[in-house]
Amino acid sequence: MVSFLSTLQEATPDPFFVLNDLYSKDPKKEKVNLGIGIYRTEEGKTPLMSVFLDELVAFIERARAGEINAGYLGIEGLASFRAEVPRLVLSDESRALKEGRVQVIQSLGGTGGMFLGAKLLAQELSFKQVFVSDPTWSNHMNIFDRAGFQISTYPYRDIETNELAFDRMLSAIKEMPRGSVILFHPSCHNPTGIDPTEAQWAEILDLVHKQELFPFFDCAYQGLGEGVEEDVFPIRAADSMGLEFLVAVSFSKNLSLYQQRLGALMVVGNEKDALHNGVEVVKARVIRASYSNPPALGATGAAAIMSDEKKKQAWLLELKEIRDRLKEVRGKFVGALSKRGLASEHIAKQKGMFSYTGLSKTQVLELRDKYSIYMTTDGRANLAGLNNSNIDYVADAIFDCSK
Ligand SMILES: Cc1ncc(COP(=O)(O)O)c(C=O)c1O
Repeated sequence: MVSFLSTLQEATPDPFFVLNDLYSKDPKKEKVNLGIGIYRTEEGKTPLMSVFLDELVAFIERARAGEINAGYLGIEGLASFRAEVPRLVLSDESRALKEGRVQVIQSLGGTGGMFLGAKLLAQELSFKQVFVSDPTWSNHMNIFDRAGFQISTYPYRDIETNELAFDRMLSAIKEMPRGSVILFHPSCHNPTGIDPTEAQWAEILDLVHKQELFPFFDCAYQGLGEGVEEDVFPIRAADSMGLEFLVAVSFSKNLSLYQQRLGALMVVGNEKDALHNGVEVVKARVIRASYSNPPALGATGAAAIMSDEKKKQAWLLELKEIRDRLKEVRGKFVGALSKRGLASEHIAKQKGMFSYTGLSKTQVLELRDKYSIYMTTDGRANLAGLNNSNIDYVADAIFDCSK
């Protein structure tokens, strides 16, 4: 029998999900998952936030009372959610927001926001080249490649010092052709946890402006680094400079909506008609032709939380607990490593969910085989997988694999 499907080329499975599967199938009792970027409590759980649970209950009550319209959302998503996103990311003081130069499209998670933005830039605006940090989240390569971009990298982490390779990064930006897209992680850089200082961001953005580059911010960790305001510093700086830019926003980590796939593409433009056209193009040629319109439940809850000051404060408090736990675990991990004479100062300086341990691929694989400790082969460890019961086990194992 002929098989038309047999001509398919083999695809490389996504490393994060492969690692998760390997972990789940590992029969050992003592095992630790420091792989995929999902927050976990001290007890190893990823619960829904209580503020969101309250909204679910309210939603069901309204549904039972016949007050919920269960029909499709518009292609661009829920209006009340779309109105809150720029208030959170750019603030009410935003220059672009005051001047009516911001458009928001609800997306399927932050990944969906990246995807819509990449499609808009490559397929509708003919941008050809994107520069991403070396290293970056591996899915950036995938997204920009599928959108038709030529992908290049700029230096980011200095291997010798474990710090930002700031001078080399600036030199690389000076060489980028005008009209290139440059991708930034506004905070909690994935995978390195290394963020530029505010002064460094000012220099970077100044150069981006001079070189006439197009910034695209991947905002996946707002509130998990230093705070919801601090973590979007470069985005707000670009806004106050009057730049045109895109932001992919994710609510997976900061509202624990991993499964609801809630995100947004925010487009900040200088020209209102162009901005309007851009959004219509994305709606008609990308969204309608793929998933048609986004899901409503996550957006309904998120909008209710963000638009009510009391609920918003309750959310920010829950988010602070996540941030504080990550910081505390980072401190304990650094302590446990240094107690064993292992270098850890670089880990202390990093921010967010990840620690870029500096472990080699061989060491990572040894940790996996010998100790059932799972992390990506670049040595990135999700700190949320550590807790008081496993931190010494992990530190001992790293000590053993570092001999
Ligand atoms: C850097 C970065 N960008 C975007 C995302 C996408 O998040 P999601 O699509 O789950 O909202 C992630 C998730 O891990 C990430 O680490």
